[in-house]
Amino acid sequence: MNIPSPLIPASSQARDLDQLFQVVLIISVAIFLVVAGLVIYNAFRYRQRPGDALPKQDHGNHRLEIAWTIVPLIIVTVMFLLSVRTMHLVDPLPLDRKPDIDIVAHQWWWEAHYPATGAVTANEIHIPAGKKLLFRITSADVVHDFWVPQLAQKIDAVPGQMNVAWISADRPGVYLGACAEYCGAEHAWMRVRVVAQPQAEFERWQQHQLRLPAAPTSEQASRGFHVFMNRPCSNCHRIAGTPAQGRIGPDLTHLGSRKTLAAGVLANNPGNLAAWVTVPQQYKPGSNMPNFQFDPQQLKDLIAYLKELK
Ligand code: CUA
Repeated sequence: MNIPSPLIPASSQARDLDQLFQVVLIISVAIFLVVAGLVIYNAFRYRQRPGDALPKQDHGNHRLEIAWTIVPLIIVTVMFLLSVRTMHLVDPLPLDRKPDIDIVAHQWWWEAHYPATGAVTANEIHIPAGKKLLFRITSADVVHDFWVPQLAQKIDAVPGQMNVAWISADRPGVYLGACAEYCGAEHAWMRVRVVAQPQAEFERWQQHQLRLPAAPTSEQASRGFHVFMNRPCSNCHRIAGTPAQGRIGPDLTHLGSRKTLAAGVLANNPGNLAAWVTVPQQYKPGSNMPNFQFDPQQLKDLIAYLKELK
């Protein structure tokens, strides 16, 4: 059988959760088969036949009642103990460890900070493969839920509260996740990609994120820079080393290093970027990004500038 990859655990936490899920699934299927089987068997075996009189009526049966109280109690206790064991395996107390990543959920995207270095990114979270990282998560607006099934437990992002969880990946690769708590119109388009890389590659990525973008290299990109700074773009977005220091939308300092736009709605390429910047409400209705109606020249300049933000 070909199991879809999001269901194949790729970290120790995900394996522990998967094992618990399988045990509970087997117990549940067994209960279903016994109950459904008895119902079908009895409905058939004791069905009314022509000429049958009313059968003997029984009231109360101590042995049966004790059995159907004790057996479920044992089953529930076993599942409870297995769940507690898994909780301890998956979610050990971080004690005084500082978080490696700070995640803030927004309607409808993810913001990620790396407190040790100050690196910032959005919607594409990089981690070193083979290392267990602690992340801390909160929300800027409503309740969201961070879920990358292959790598970590589900965890709620709650405004005004910090939750912590562990994340890791056995092997390098891209692991897809999504918001798992209904949070408004674009809940379905709140995707997240976790990019697990060999340690050295991860360090390079992190160093790259810290670098300030180079000044625009062409006349056109330079005009685009002014469009960005003089239009409302800069009120909401940040580009390090420029006057744009907005914190409402994703940090765009290294926009070009990401694979998707708008938390997974579009592949990140110049054509899609132009389409997204012009009519975001068509691609992600209800998002905070307004339609700007740039004139064609402004749009070309702006894209030339944004393209250079690698
Ligand atoms: Cu955020 Cu659903």
